[in-house]
Amino acid sequence: MAKLSIRQLHLGHKRVFIRVDFNVPIKDGVIADDTRIRESLRTIQYAVDKGATVILASHLGRPKGKPSAEFSLRPVAERLGQLIKRPVVFADDCIGEPVAKAIEKAKATGAVVLLENLRFHAEEEKNDPAFAKALAAHADLYVNDAFGAAHRAHASVEGITHHLPQAAAGLLMERELRFLGHALETPERPFVAILGGAKVSDKIEVIDNLLKKVDRLIIGGAMAYTFLASRGVPVGKSLVENDKLDAARAVTADAAARGVMLMLPTDHMVTNKLDGSGDNQTLAVGDAAIGDRMGVDIGPDTIDAYTEAISAAKTVLWNGPMGIFEVTAFAAGTNEVADAVAGVVGTTIIGGGDSIAAVKKAGIASHITHISTGGGASLEFLGGQTLPGVAALADATPAGAAADVTH
Ligand code: 3PG
Repeated sequence: MAKLSIRQLHLGHKRVFIRVDFNVPIKDGVIADDTRIRESLRTIQYAVDKGATVILASHLGRPKGKPSAEFSLRPVAERLGQLIKRPVVFADDCIGEPVAKAIEKAKATGAVVLLENLRFHAEEEKNDPAFAKALAAHADLYVNDAFGAAHRAHASVEGITHHLPQAAAGLLMERELRFLGHALETPERPFVAILGGAKVSDKIEVIDNLLKKVDRLIIGGAMAYTFLASRGVPVGKSLVENDKLDAARAVTADAAARGVMLMLPTDHMVTNKLDGSGDNQTLAVGDAAIGDRMGVDIGPDTIDAYTEAISAAKTVLWNGPMGIFEVTAFAAGTNEVADAVAGVVGTTIIGGGDSIAAVKKAGIASHITHISTGGGASLEFLGGQTLPGVAALADATPAGAAADVTH
C-alpha cells in the first residue's frame, strides 16, 4: 500500500518535523561523503517552497545516549546551508527550549532548523513515549525522509508519529519505496539479482526472499565460497561460514525447485596476500592448485557468464562486491559487473552498502536508475521485512494519490 506523501500535506505556515538520515561519515569535523544530505534536499526544498517551517532531525553515529562533540551534527548544519543556499539554525538539543528558540529564529529569517543528534538522548533508541512526545511538541506535521533509519523503531522514527496528526513519506523515502518495492513486486523480466560481499549470514533473508522473485541469482564475493564448500568443492583458505553450509544447500535446493538459475563462480583469482602483493593466480574453481591460498575475485570466465546474464536483464538488483575491489589487483570482477549493470536497458538498483562505493569507484553511478541510501534498511526491506518507520506512516488516501515526480 502506498504511503501518504509529503505532496498530500498542506504545509503552508506549518511547522514540519522532517526525520532525515544525515548519518554521514565525518572525520575531524570534515564530511567525507555528503550523499545522504544531498539526497534529502528535494524534500527540504519542497517543504520550504510550500511555506513550511522546516525542523530537521537525524542521528549521527552511535553515541550511546550521551552528548559528545565527536557525534555532533554541527558540521552537517554548515554543509546543509551551503547545499540548500539558505541559512540553517542549529539547535543545541533536539527537545525543549533550544528547539523553540531555533524555530522562532528560523521563522524570522527564512532559515531551516537542524536539531542536534537525536541519539544524545538514550530515550531515542528506546522509543520512549515521553521523549517522542517532546520531539513532537514543537511541530504540526511529521515527514519521514530517513529510509536509511526506517528499520529502527526509534522515537523519532516510530513513537513520534503517535503524537502528530499526520505522518507522511518525504520524496526520498517515496523514491526508495517505489524502486525497491517495484523490484520486488512488479519487475520487468528477466529479473537478475547480484549478491556479493563477505558473508552469507548477512544476506540469508535477502537470498530467501529474492529466490521467490528473480529469474537468476548471481553470487559473488567471499559468500560464494560457502556455497561452493557446501557442494564439496575445495576452496583452500577462502572464507567459508561452516555454520551456514546447510543454509547454502537449502538455497541451492530452493533455487532448483523454483526454476531460478543460481550462478556461482567457475573460475577465480586466488592469492596468499590480501594487499595484492602476493602470489596471485587465476584458477578454475575446484583446482587443487589453490593450496593454502584464498579466492579474492571472480575470474574471466565467470565475468563473461555474469555480464552476459546481466546484459540480458530488464531489471537488475545489486548488493555486494564480487571481490576485494578496494585492491586494484582484485577489482576486475566488481568493475566489469558494474559496467554490465550500467549498460542494462531497464531498471538498475543498487541496494546500499559496499556496492555504492563500488559503483562510485567504477565511475558509473550516474548510469544507475536508483542507488539506495539504506544499508541495513535496504537489506531488511529486500529480505521482505516490514520496516517500522514505513509501517508508522499513514496510508495514501485514494483522492490524494500523489502525482509522479520527475527525478
Ligand atoms: C545507516 O547508516 O545504515 C543508518 O543511518 C542507520 O544507522 P544505525 O545502524 O546506527 O542505526
